[in-house]
Amino acid sequence: MQNDFISRRHILQRYGRLAISFGLVAPAIVTSRKSLAQQSANPLCEKQTPPQMQGPFYLPLSPERVSLVEPKMKSPRMRVTGRVVDTACRPLPGALLDFWQCDERGQYDTKGFSLRGHQFANSKGEFFLETVIPGSYPGRTPHLHVKVQRKGGQVLTTQLYLPNHPGNAQDFLFDPRLSLVSQGQDFFWQFVLPS
Ligand SMILES: [Fe+2]
Repeated sequence: MQNDFISRRHILQRYGRLAISFGLVAPAIVTSRKSLAQQSANPLCEKQTPPQMQGPFYLPLSPERVSLVEPKMKSPRMRVTGRVVDTACRPLPGALLDFWQCDERGQYDTKGFSLRGHQFANSKGEFFLETVIPGSYPGRTPHLHVKVQRKGGQVLTTQLYLPNHPGNAQDFLFDPRLSLVSQGQDFFWQFVLPS
């Protein structure tokens, strides 16, 4: 599974310039939400984030971006702040996060990179994602797919869910341990990777 994930070498080759600019821009975005993330950080770091299946719609080489929103998208926006830590609660700066999801009709873009994007956690292991509320499709409640990889580490593939969504109970994959933490109109999430 790790082979089909974006390699850091490939990213540097393909997105080197973007990666540099991200280093300047993204921390400012995350920093503006730092207090939100810090206030809500789950102190229970000993429990690793559970993996879930990749599913059939993953595409490698997504663009680097913290916002997946495009003007044409009509779904309500959602924002996720969070961080990536290990089981000792140590932040993992530079961790790679690659998100993908369906649109409001429950359809994935398999020919392009709509609603797909990767980013790197900042120096404090924090990340920020802006996107739209994903739709449902047969058998599945709204969810975000994500791969997370610390520098040189194994890839965690999992899915995140909207808390208290009525479709969760009917979803064969739903795991309450992967429900985002609500913060008004925003959400918080902490990925816990092996130490
Ligand atoms: Fe899916």
